[in-house]
Amino acid sequence: MAKRLQARRLDGIDHSPWVEFVKLASEEADVVNFGEGFPDFSPPEFAVEAFQHAVSGDFMLNQYTKAFGYPPLTKILASFFGKFLGQEIDPLKNVLVTVGAYGALFTAFQALVDEGDEVIIVEPFFYCYEPMTLMAGGRPVFVSLKLSPIQKGEPDSSSNWQLDPTELASKFTSRTKAFILNTPNNPLGKVFSREELELVASLCQQHDVVCITDEVYQWLVFDGFQHISIASLPGMWERTLTIGSAGKTFSVTGWKVGWVLGPDSLMKHLRTVHQNSIDQCATQCQAAVAQSFEREQLHFGQPSSYFVQFPQYIQRCRDHMIQSLQSVGLRPVIPQGSYFLITDISDFKNKMPDLPGAADEPYDRRFVKWMIKNKGLMAIPVSTFVSVPHQKFFDHYIRFCFVKDESTLRAMDQKLQKWKAELMP
Ligand SMILES: Cc1ncc(COP(=O)(O)O)c(C=O)c1O
Repeated sequence: MAKRLQARRLDGIDHSPWVEFVKLASEEADVVNFGEGFPDFSPPEFAVEAFQHAVSGDFMLNQYTKAFGYPPLTKILASFFGKFLGQEIDPLKNVLVTVGAYGALFTAFQALVDEGDEVIIVEPFFYCYEPMTLMAGGRPVFVSLKLSPIQKGEPDSSSNWQLDPTELASKFTSRTKAFILNTPNNPLGKVFSREELELVASLCQQHDVVCITDEVYQWLVFDGFQHISIASLPGMWERTLTIGSAGKTFSVTGWKVGWVLGPDSLMKHLRTVHQNSIDQCATQCQAAVAQSFEREQLHFGQPSSYFVQFPQYIQRCRDHMIQSLQSVGLRPVIPQGSYFLITDISDFKNKMPDLPGAADEPYDRRFVKWMIKNKGLMAIPVSTFVSVPHQKFFDHYIRFCFVKDESTLRAMDQKLQKWKAELMP
Protein backbone atom coordinates (compact mmCIF):
# COMPACT_ATOMS: atom_id res chain seq x y z
CA MET A 1 0.00 0.00 0.00
CA ALA A 2 1.25 3.49 -0.76
CA LYS A 3 -0.64 5.08 2.11
CA ARG A 4 1.04 5.50 5.45
CA LEU A 5 -0.21 2.52 7.43
CA GLN A 6 0.58 3.05 11.06
CA ALA A 7 -1.16 5.66 13.18
CA ARG A 8 1.12 8.53 14.19
CA ARG A 9 0.64 7.62 17.84
CA LEU A 10 2.93 4.64 17.21
CA ASP A 11 5.85 6.77 16.05
CA GLY A 12 8.92 6.22 18.17
CA ILE A 13 7.47 3.43 20.27
CA ASP A 14 7.56 0.53 17.83
CA HIS A 15 10.83 -0.95 19.06
CA SER A 16 10.78 -2.85 22.33
CA PRO A 17 14.18 -3.87 23.70
CA TRP A 18 12.30 -6.43 25.75
CA VAL A 19 11.09 -8.38 22.75
CA GLU A 20 14.69 -8.41 21.52
CA PHE A 21 16.14 -9.78 24.79
CA VAL A 22 13.43 -12.39 25.29
CA LYS A 23 13.92 -13.58 21.68
CA LEU A 24 17.67 -13.76 22.12
CA ALA A 25 17.33 -15.85 25.28
CA SER A 26 14.88 -18.21 23.58
CA GLU A 27 17.33 -18.82 20.72
CA GLU A 28 20.14 -20.02 22.98
CA ALA A 29 20.19 -23.46 24.59
CA ASP A 30 20.51 -23.68 28.37
CA VAL A 31 19.76 -20.08 29.33
CA VAL A 32 18.39 -19.53 32.84
CA ASN A 33 15.81 -16.77 32.70
CA PHE A 34 16.07 -14.16 35.45
CA GLY A 35 14.85 -11.46 33.12
CA GLU A 36 11.09 -11.63 33.11
CA GLY A 37 9.00 -11.00 36.23
CA PHE A 38 7.14 -14.20 36.98
CA PRO A 39 7.51 -17.03 39.49
CA ASP A 40 8.66 -20.37 38.08
CA PHE A 41 6.85 -22.31 40.80
CA SER A 42 3.24 -23.26 41.48
CA PRO A 43 0.73 -20.70 42.75
CA PRO A 44 -0.79 -21.38 46.20
CA GLU A 45 -3.07 -24.40 46.30
CA PHE A 46 -6.12 -22.32 47.24
CA ALA A 47 -5.72 -20.24 44.05
CA VAL A 48 -5.37 -23.33 41.83
CA GLU A 49 -8.46 -24.84 43.47
CA ALA A 50 -10.36 -21.59 43.00
CA PHE A 51 -9.53 -21.68 39.30
CA GLN A 52 -10.55 -25.35 38.98
CA HIS A 53 -13.79 -24.54 40.75
CA ALA A 54 -14.42 -21.61 38.40
CA VAL A 55 -13.87 -23.80 35.35
CA SER A 56 -15.86 -26.83 36.45
CA GLY A 57 -18.52 -25.23 38.65
CA ASP A 58 -21.29 -22.80 37.69
CA PHE A 59 -21.69 -22.99 33.88
CA MET A 60 -22.67 -19.31 33.81
CA LEU A 61 -19.04 -18.48 34.54
CA ASN A 62 -18.44 -19.37 30.88
CA GLN A 63 -20.48 -16.31 29.89
CA TYR A 64 -20.07 -12.54 29.97
CA THR A 65 -20.33 -10.90 33.34
CA LYS A 66 -20.78 -7.25 34.34
CA ALA A 67 -18.67 -5.00 32.11
CA PHE A 68 -16.79 -3.27 34.93
CA GLY A 69 -16.08 -6.44 36.89
CA TYR A 70 -17.55 -9.73 38.08
CA PRO A 71 -19.69 -8.61 41.06
CA PRO A 72 -18.18 -10.92 43.74
CA LEU A 73 -14.73 -9.65 42.70
CA THR A 74 -15.57 -5.94 42.76
CA LYS A 75 -17.27 -6.54 46.12
CA ILE A 76 -14.31 -8.25 47.77
CA LEU A 77 -11.82 -5.76 46.27
CA ALA A 78 -13.93 -2.95 47.74
CA SER A 79 -14.08 -4.44 51.22
CA PHE A 80 -10.47 -5.70 51.23
CA PHE A 81 -8.84 -2.47 50.04
CA GLY A 82 -11.29 -0.12 51.75
CA LYS A 83 -9.56 -0.88 55.06
CA PHE A 84 -6.10 0.02 53.72
CA LEU A 85 -7.19 3.14 51.95
CA GLY A 86 -9.42 4.34 54.80
CA GLN A 87 -12.40 4.65 52.46
CA GLU A 88 -15.88 3.29 52.12
CA ILE A 89 -15.40 1.83 48.63
CA ASP A 90 -18.43 1.34 46.42
CA PRO A 91 -17.95 -1.79 44.24
CA LEU A 92 -19.93 -0.20 41.39
CA LYS A 93 -18.43 3.29 41.38
CA ASN A 94 -14.91 2.95 42.76
CA VAL A 95 -13.67 -0.35 41.29
CA LEU A 96 -12.84 -1.35 37.72
CA VAL A 97 -11.51 -4.82 36.82
CA THR A 98 -9.11 -4.83 33.89
CA VAL A 99 -6.90 -7.14 31.84
CA GLY A 100 -4.00 -7.11 34.28
CA ALA A 101 -2.45 -4.02 35.80
CA TYR A 102 -1.24 -3.32 32.26
CA GLY A 103 -4.86 -2.90 31.19
CA ALA A 104 -5.50 -0.68 34.20
CA LEU A 105 -2.59 1.58 33.30
CA PHE A 106 -3.62 1.81 29.66
CA THR A 107 -7.21 2.63 30.58
CA ALA A 108 -6.06 5.32 33.04
CA PHE A 109 -3.73 6.99 30.53
CA GLN A 110 -6.33 6.93 27.77
CA ALA A 111 -9.02 8.30 30.07
CA LEU A 112 -7.08 11.18 31.62
CA VAL A 113 -4.09 12.22 29.51
CA ASP A 114 -4.86 14.65 26.70
CA GLU A 115 -2.81 16.15 23.84
CA GLY A 116 0.02 18.20 25.33
CA ASP A 117 -0.55 17.17 28.94
CA GLU A 118 2.62 16.60 30.93
CA VAL A 119 3.01 13.37 32.85
CA ILE A 120 5.73 13.11 35.49
CA ILE A 121 7.46 9.73 35.54
CA VAL A 122 9.98 8.71 38.20
CA GLU A 123 12.89 6.84 36.68
CA PRO A 124 13.97 4.10 36.58
CA PHE A 125 10.36 3.21 35.68
CA PHE A 126 8.29 0.24 34.55
CA TYR A 127 8.85 0.61 30.84
CA CYS A 128 5.25 0.98 29.59
CA TYR A 129 4.64 4.34 31.32
CA GLU A 130 6.50 6.27 28.63
CA PRO A 131 4.82 4.72 25.52
CA MET A 132 1.41 4.85 27.21
CA THR A 133 1.88 8.59 27.84
CA LEU A 134 2.95 9.12 24.23
CA MET A 135 0.08 7.08 22.78
CA ALA A 136 -2.36 9.28 24.69
CA GLY A 137 -0.71 12.40 23.20
CA GLY A 138 0.98 13.39 26.47
CA ARG A 139 4.53 14.55 27.11
CA PRO A 140 6.59 12.50 29.56
CA VAL A 141 8.62 14.53 32.05
CA PHE A 142 11.24 12.48 33.85
CA VAL A 143 12.66 12.84 37.31
CA SER A 144 15.40 10.43 38.42
CA LEU A 145 15.91 8.64 41.69
CA LYS A 146 19.53 9.26 42.63
CA LEU A 147 21.85 7.26 44.79
CA SER A 148 22.68 9.18 47.96
CA PRO A 149 26.24 8.71 49.27
CA ILE A 150 26.91 5.45 51.13
CA GLN A 151 29.80 4.47 53.41
CA LYS A 152 32.65 2.75 51.57
CA GLY A 153 32.23 -1.03 51.73
CA GLU A 154 28.57 -0.75 52.78
CA PRO A 155 26.12 -2.59 50.51
CA ASP A 156 23.89 -0.32 48.50
CA SER A 157 20.19 -0.40 49.32
CA SER A 158 17.20 0.69 47.24
CA SER A 159 16.19 3.07 50.06
CA ASN A 160 19.38 5.05 49.34
CA TRP A 161 17.86 5.97 45.98
CA GLN A 162 15.92 9.15 46.51
CA LEU A 163 14.22 12.03 44.76
CA ASP A 164 15.74 15.45 45.17
CA PRO A 165 12.83 17.53 46.57
CA THR A 166 13.85 20.72 44.72
CA GLU A 167 14.25 18.94 41.40
CA LEU A 168 10.96 17.12 41.92
CA ALA A 169 9.09 20.36 42.64
CA SER A 170 10.61 21.96 39.52
CA LYS A 171 8.95 19.30 37.30
CA PHE A 172 5.41 20.40 38.22
CA THR A 173 3.97 23.03 35.88
CA SER A 174 0.51 24.30 34.97
CA ARG A 175 0.49 21.65 32.20
CA THR A 176 1.15 18.71 34.55
CA LYS A 177 -1.82 16.36 34.45
CA ALA A 178 -0.58 13.24 36.18
CA PHE A 179 2.18 11.92 38.41
CA ILE A 180 3.05 8.23 38.02
CA LEU A 181 4.15 6.54 41.19
CA ASN A 182 5.30 2.94 41.49
CA THR A 183 5.85 1.59 44.97
CA PRO A 184 7.42 -0.91 45.54
CA ASN A 185 9.31 0.14 42.45
CA ASN A 186 10.24 -2.02 39.49
CA PRO A 187 13.22 -2.33 38.79
CA LEU A 188 14.87 -0.94 41.97
CA GLY A 189 12.71 -2.56 44.63
CA LYS A 190 12.43 0.78 46.42
CA VAL A 191 9.53 1.14 48.88
CA PHE A 192 8.65 4.83 49.14
CA SER A 193 8.61 6.13 52.72
CA ARG A 194 5.76 8.10 54.27
CA GLU A 195 7.84 11.31 54.05
CA GLU A 196 8.51 10.76 50.35
CA LEU A 197 4.83 10.07 49.69
CA GLU A 198 3.81 13.16 51.66
CA LEU A 199 6.06 15.27 49.48
CA VAL A 200 4.53 13.84 46.29
CA ALA A 201 1.03 14.25 47.77
CA SER A 202 1.55 17.89 48.66
CA LEU A 203 2.90 18.69 45.18
CA CYS A 204 -0.03 16.90 43.52
CA GLN A 205 -2.47 18.89 45.66
CA GLN A 206 -0.65 22.18 45.16
CA HIS A 207 -0.66 21.76 41.35
CA ASP A 208 -4.01 19.99 41.00
CA VAL A 209 -2.45 16.83 39.58
CA VAL A 210 -3.83 13.27 39.45
CA CYS A 211 -1.65 10.54 40.96
CA ILE A 212 -1.67 7.18 39.16
CA THR A 213 -0.06 4.76 41.58
CA ASP A 214 1.06 1.32 40.46
CA GLU A 215 1.13 -0.85 43.58
CA VAL A 216 1.25 -4.32 42.04
CA TYR A 217 4.00 -5.42 44.46
CA GLN A 218 2.32 -4.02 47.55
CA TRP A 219 2.37 -7.31 49.51
CA LEU A 220 6.00 -8.02 48.63
CA VAL A 221 7.97 -5.96 51.15
CA PHE A 222 10.90 -7.16 53.24
CA ASP A 223 13.00 -6.36 56.31
CA GLY A 224 10.04 -4.94 58.25
CA PHE A 225 9.46 -2.18 55.68
CA GLN A 226 5.87 -1.10 55.26
CA HIS A 227 3.99 -0.39 52.08
CA ILE A 228 1.89 2.77 52.25
CA SER A 229 -0.76 3.57 49.64
CA ILE A 230 -0.58 7.24 48.72
CA ALA A 231 -4.40 7.25 48.37
CA SER A 232 -4.59 6.76 52.15
CA LEU A 233 -2.87 10.10 52.85
CA PRO A 234 -5.10 13.08 53.68
CA GLY A 235 -6.64 14.69 50.62
CA MET A 236 -5.30 12.08 48.20
CA TRP A 237 -8.19 9.64 47.65
CA GLU A 238 -10.05 12.12 45.44
CA ARG A 239 -7.09 12.56 43.09
CA THR A 240 -5.56 9.06 43.07
CA LEU A 241 -6.00 5.93 40.99
CA THR A 242 -4.58 2.88 42.76
CA ILE A 243 -3.65 -0.04 40.51
CA GLY A 244 -3.18 -3.67 41.52
CA SER A 245 -2.55 -7.06 39.91
CA ALA A 246 -3.84 -10.53 40.81
CA GLY A 247 -0.89 -11.91 38.83
CA LYS A 248 1.64 -10.46 41.26
CA THR A 249 -0.63 -10.91 44.31
CA PHE A 250 -1.28 -14.65 43.93
CA SER A 251 1.64 -15.71 41.68
CA VAL A 252 -0.68 -16.17 38.69
CA THR A 253 0.67 -13.72 36.13
CA GLY A 254 -0.95 -15.66 33.27
CA TRP A 255 -4.48 -14.98 34.55
CA LYS A 256 -4.12 -11.28 33.67
CA VAL A 257 -6.57 -9.86 36.16
CA GLY A 258 -5.91 -6.34 37.42
CA TRP A 259 -7.92 -3.51 38.91
CA VAL A 260 -8.13 0.21 39.51
CA LEU A 261 -9.57 1.79 42.65
CA GLY A 262 -10.44 5.47 42.80
CA PRO A 263 -13.08 8.16 43.21
CA ASP A 264 -16.09 8.10 40.90
CA SER A 265 -15.11 11.49 39.46
CA LEU A 266 -12.04 9.82 37.87
CA MET A 267 -13.37 6.28 37.49
CA LYS A 268 -16.32 7.30 35.32
CA HIS A 269 -13.83 8.31 32.61
CA LEU A 270 -11.96 5.02 32.90
CA ARG A 271 -15.29 3.21 32.54
CA THR A 272 -15.89 5.11 29.28
CA VAL A 273 -12.56 3.88 27.89
CA HIS A 274 -13.17 0.36 29.14
CA GLN A 275 -16.69 0.05 27.70
CA ASN A 276 -15.39 1.20 24.32
CA SER A 277 -12.31 -1.01 24.19
CA ILE A 278 -11.95 -4.17 26.30
CA ASP A 279 -15.53 -4.21 27.58
CA GLN A 280 -15.21 -7.43 29.60
CA CYS A 281 -12.49 -9.49 31.27
CA ALA A 282 -12.49 -13.30 31.46
CA THR A 283 -15.21 -14.26 33.94
CA GLN A 284 -13.62 -17.48 35.21
CA CYS A 285 -10.32 -15.76 35.99
CA GLN A 286 -12.18 -13.05 37.87
CA ALA A 287 -14.15 -15.65 39.83
CA ALA A 288 -10.93 -17.43 40.83
CA VAL A 289 -9.37 -14.15 41.98
CA ALA A 290 -12.51 -13.28 43.96
CA GLN A 291 -12.40 -16.62 45.76
CA SER A 292 -8.65 -16.21 46.46
CA PHE A 293 -9.22 -12.79 48.04
CA GLU A 294 -12.13 -14.16 50.09
CA ARG A 295 -9.76 -16.82 51.42
CA GLU A 296 -7.09 -14.21 52.17
CA GLN A 297 -9.55 -12.01 53.99
CA LEU A 298 -10.30 -14.88 56.38
CA HIS A 299 -6.59 -15.54 57.02
CA PHE A 300 -5.34 -11.95 56.91
CA GLY A 301 -2.49 -11.18 59.31
CA GLN A 302 -2.22 -14.81 60.44
CA PRO A 303 0.73 -17.14 59.77
CA SER A 304 -1.51 -19.06 57.32
CA SER A 305 -1.99 -15.95 55.12
CA TYR A 306 -0.33 -16.02 51.71
CA PHE A 307 0.41 -12.32 52.16
CA VAL A 308 2.46 -13.30 55.22
CA GLN A 309 4.03 -16.49 53.85
CA PHE A 310 4.91 -15.35 50.34
CA PRO A 311 7.03 -12.29 51.25
CA GLN A 312 8.92 -14.47 53.74
CA TYR A 313 9.62 -17.04 51.05
CA ILE A 314 10.74 -14.53 48.46
CA GLN A 315 12.86 -12.64 50.98
CA ARG A 316 14.82 -15.91 51.27
CA CYS A 317 15.08 -16.03 47.45
CA ARG A 318 16.28 -12.41 47.48
CA ASP A 319 18.93 -13.20 50.11
CA HIS A 320 20.06 -16.27 48.20
CA MET A 321 20.55 -14.23 45.04
CA ILE A 322 22.31 -11.37 46.88
CA GLN A 323 24.78 -13.82 48.40
CA SER A 324 25.33 -15.51 45.09
CA LEU A 325 26.07 -12.21 43.30
CA GLN A 326 28.27 -10.92 46.10
CA SER A 327 30.29 -14.16 46.19
CA VAL A 328 31.57 -13.40 42.68
CA GLY A 329 32.30 -9.74 43.35
CA LEU A 330 29.10 -8.21 41.93
CA ARG A 331 27.41 -5.44 43.91
CA PRO A 332 23.63 -5.92 44.18
CA VAL A 333 21.43 -3.07 45.39
CA ILE A 334 19.40 -4.60 48.21
CA PRO A 335 15.68 -4.18 47.44
CA GLN A 336 13.08 -3.60 50.15
CA GLY A 337 10.25 -4.82 47.96
CA SER A 338 9.08 -6.23 44.59
CA TYR A 339 10.30 -9.23 42.56
CA PHE A 340 13.55 -7.60 41.46
CA LEU A 341 17.01 -6.40 42.33
CA ILE A 342 19.52 -4.51 40.26
CA THR A 343 23.23 -5.18 40.41
CA ASP A 344 26.16 -2.93 39.64
CA ILE A 345 28.43 -4.23 36.85
CA SER A 346 30.83 -1.26 36.69
CA ASP A 347 33.87 -3.29 37.84
CA PHE A 348 33.30 -5.62 34.90
CA LYS A 349 32.72 -2.65 32.61
CA ASN A 350 36.10 -1.23 33.61
CA LYS A 351 37.80 -4.57 32.88
CA MET A 352 35.97 -5.36 29.62
CA PRO A 353 34.74 -2.06 28.17
CA ASP A 354 34.63 -3.33 24.58
CA LEU A 355 31.94 -5.97 24.46
CA PRO A 356 30.47 -6.59 20.99
CA GLY A 357 27.71 -4.23 19.83
CA ALA A 358 27.21 -0.80 18.35
CA ALA A 359 29.34 1.92 19.97
CA ASP A 360 26.27 3.96 20.88
CA GLU A 361 24.46 0.96 22.41
CA PRO A 362 24.34 1.36 26.22
CA TYR A 363 26.91 -0.91 27.89
CA ASP A 364 24.34 -2.79 29.99
CA ARG A 365 22.54 -3.93 26.81
CA ARG A 366 25.76 -5.17 25.24
CA PHE A 367 26.59 -6.87 28.53
CA VAL A 368 23.24 -8.69 28.76
CA LYS A 369 23.44 -9.89 25.14
CA TRP A 370 26.95 -11.15 25.79
CA MET A 371 25.92 -12.78 29.07
CA ILE A 372 22.98 -14.60 27.47
CA LYS A 373 25.18 -15.97 24.67
CA ASN A 374 28.32 -16.76 26.64
CA LYS A 375 27.21 -17.37 30.21
CA GLY A 376 23.67 -18.74 29.84
CA LEU A 377 22.11 -16.17 32.17
CA MET A 378 19.37 -13.73 31.28
CA ALA A 379 18.76 -10.41 33.02
CA ILE A 380 17.33 -7.09 31.80
CA PRO A 381 19.51 -4.01 31.23
CA VAL A 382 18.45 -1.13 33.48
CA SER A 383 18.90 1.44 30.69
CA THR A 384 15.64 0.04 29.26
CA PHE A 385 13.87 1.53 32.32
CA VAL A 386 15.04 5.11 31.81
CA SER A 387 14.55 7.88 29.26
CA VAL A 388 17.07 8.04 26.41
CA PRO A 389 18.97 11.14 27.67
CA HIS A 390 19.52 9.49 31.07
CA GLN A 391 20.60 6.06 29.85
CA LYS A 392 24.26 6.85 30.27
CA PHE A 393 23.73 7.27 34.05
CA PHE A 394 22.19 3.81 34.38
CA ASP A 395 24.13 1.74 31.85
CA HIS A 396 26.16 -0.13 34.50
CA TYR A 397 23.21 -1.88 36.15
CA ILE A 398 21.25 -4.99 35.21
CA ARG A 399 18.02 -6.29 36.74
CA PHE A 400 17.43 -9.84 37.96
CA CYS A 401 14.08 -11.36 39.00
CA PHE A 402 14.64 -13.43 42.16
CA VAL A 403 11.12 -14.91 42.49
CA LYS A 404 12.40 -18.29 41.41
CA ASP A 405 12.46 -21.85 42.63
CA GLU A 406 15.42 -22.96 44.78
CA SER A 407 16.69 -25.16 41.91
CA THR A 408 16.71 -22.18 39.50
CA LEU A 409 18.65 -20.10 42.00
CA ARG A 410 21.14 -22.96 42.42
CA ALA A 411 21.56 -23.10 38.63
CA MET A 412 22.51 -19.43 38.79
CA ASP A 413 25.04 -20.12 41.57
CA GLN A 414 26.73 -22.73 39.38
CA LYS A 415 26.90 -20.49 36.35
CA LEU A 416 28.28 -17.57 38.36
CA GLN A 417 30.90 -19.72 40.09
CA LYS A 418 32.22 -20.92 36.70
CA TRP A 419 32.47 -17.27 35.67
CA LYS A 420 33.99 -16.07 38.95
CA ALA A 421 37.58 -15.49 37.79
CA GLU A 422 36.47 -12.97 35.16
CA LEU A 423 33.96 -11.28 37.44
CA MET A 424 36.05 -10.67 40.55
CA PRO A 425 37.21 -7.04 40.66
C1 LIG B 1 5.35 -2.28 38.03
C2 LIG B 1 4.46 -3.15 37.20
N1 LIG B 1 3.25 -2.70 36.88
C3 LIG B 1 2.40 -3.45 36.14
C4 LIG B 1 2.77 -4.70 35.68
C5 LIG B 1 1.81 -5.49 34.83
O1 LIG B 1 1.05 -6.35 35.63
P1 LIG B 1 -0.02 -7.37 34.99
O2 LIG B 1 0.72 -8.63 34.65
O3 LIG B 1 -1.06 -7.56 36.05
O4 LIG B 1 -0.56 -6.70 33.77
C6 LIG B 1 4.05 -5.20 35.98
C7 LIG B 1 4.48 -6.50 35.44
O5 LIG B 1 5.63 -6.86 35.45
C8 LIG B 1 4.90 -4.40 36.78
O6 LIG B 1 6.14 -4.83 37.10
